[in-house]
Amino acid sequence: MITQLTLVNFKAFRRLELPMGPLTLLTGLNSSGKSSVLQALALLRQSFGPDRTTSPEGGLLLNGELVEMGTARDLLHDDFGPADDLLATGAPVVGFVVEADNLPSRFIARYDLGQPDEDVMEAYDFPAFRSLLREPFQYLHADRITPAVTYPRSRQIAIDRGFLGVRGEHTVNYLRHNAEREIPDGPLRHPGATSPQLLDQTVAWMQELCPGVNLQTSAIEGTDFVRLSYGFGGTAGINATRRRRPTNVGFGLTYALPIVVACLTATPESLILLENPEAHLHPKGQSRMAALISAAAATGAQLVVETHSDHVLNGVRLAVKRGGLRPDDAVIHFFRGNGSGAEVISPRVDKDGMLAQWPEGFFDEWENLLDQLLD
Ligand SMILES: Nc1ncnc2c1ncn2[C@@H]1O[C@H](COP(=O)(O)OP(=O)(O)OP(=O)(O)O)[C@@H](O)[C@H]1O
Ligand SMILES: [Mg+2]
Repeated sequence: MITQLTLVNFKAFRRLELPMGPLTLLTGLNSSGKSSVLQALALLRQSFGPDRTTSPEGGLLLNGELVEMGTARDLLHDDFGPADDLLATGAPVVGFVVEADNLPSRFIARYDLGQPDEDVMEAYDFPAFRSLLREPFQYLHADRITPAVTYPRSRQIAIDRGFLGVRGEHTVNYLRHNAEREIPDGPLRHPGATSPQLLDQTVAWMQELCPGVNLQTSAIEGTDFVRLSYGFGGTAGINATRRRRPTNVGFGLTYALPIVVACLTATPESLILLENPEAHLHPKGQSRMAALISAAAATGAQLVVETHSDHVLNGVRLAVKRGGLRPDDAVIHFFRGNGSGAEVISPRVDKDGMLAQWPEGFFDEWENLLDQLLD
C-alpha cells in the first residue's frame, strides 16, 4: 500500500508530501490540486505499468490511456524549485516519491529546456514498483459515461485486463462477462443481495440509490457493442416486467454504475482512483456510496477518492464509527490552494468518527448558510 506520495515540481505543487491510507479522501476547493494527485499516480502507472507497450526506458509518457497531461511545459510547476535531493542536475526535474510499506521509490523526469513541447520526458529512476502496479487497477475520471443505447465491447480491455475505462465505458461489458463472479464473503458483499454474484451484488448496491431497480446486460449480436437495460420491479411504472434503456431512466443511475462496479472489483491487491463518486446522486445515495467505498477499502484495497460531498465525508466517518474502517485507515486531506500554491490540512478522524480539527472552508457551508438564514 502507498503510505505517502511526494510530488516535486508537478503542476500546482512545488513540493507536496501527502500521507495516504487504505482510503484517502481528497477534498477542497476547485482547482486546488486534488485531481492532480490522482493524475500523478495514473501518470506513473501509464509510464511504467504493465500496459505500457514499449520499454519504460522510453520515459514519462504524458499522454495515454489514463491521462492526457499535454507537454513537459504543462507538467512542470511554473515556479519550479531545486530538487537536488532527488537528482543533482542543473536541469529542472519533475519528481515523484512513492512510499510503500516505508520503502520509498523515486521516479524522476528531466525537463529538457530545448524540448518543452515534447509529450515524453526522460526518466531516471523507474524501479519495479508493486504498490503502483497493483491489479486490478481502476481509475474513473469525473467525466464518465452518460446514459446511452450502446456501450463498447472490448475483450482486451474489459475482460483480459478487467479495466472499466477512465470514463467507465467498459463497465457494461465487464459486468456482462463477469456477472457470475462471486464477491467473497466480507465487507463488500451486500447482505441484501439475492446472491454473492457480481450482477446481483451490483443490483443490491444500485438499489441503495434507487429502490427496486435491477439491471441486465447483453451483447448486441453482430456488432462490437453491448447493451444495458434497467427494470424497476413494479416500483416505477405500471408494467413491472418492462425493460428500460439507460436514456429513459434517471441519469444518476448510469453515472454511478462504474463507481459501484469499480468498488466491487476491489481485492486486497487493488488500487482504485475515483473522482467525484457522488456526482448526480441524491444526498442519501452519496452517503451510501461512501459506505461502499469504505467497504472496498476494508477488503484491503487502496482507494484514493476526490470528493466535494459532505455526505461522502460523513459516510466514511460513520463507517469508522461503526467499526467498518479503522480510524487510521481513513486519511482525509483538505486542499485549499488557490492555483498558485498548495496548502493541505489533514484532519484526523477518531474512533467515533469525529474530526480532530475543522478548518475554515472545510464542509462548513451548511452552518454558514444556516447562520445567515437564522440571523
Ligand atoms: N504547470 C503548472 N504550474 C503551476 N500550477 C499548475 C500547473 N498546471 C496546472 N496547475 C494548477 O494546478 C491546479 C490543477 O487543479 P486540479 O485539476 O488538480 O483541481 P481539483 O482540485 O481536482 O479541482 P476540481 O475540484 O474542480 O476537480 C490548477 O489550479 C492549475 O492552475
Ligand atoms: Mg478534480
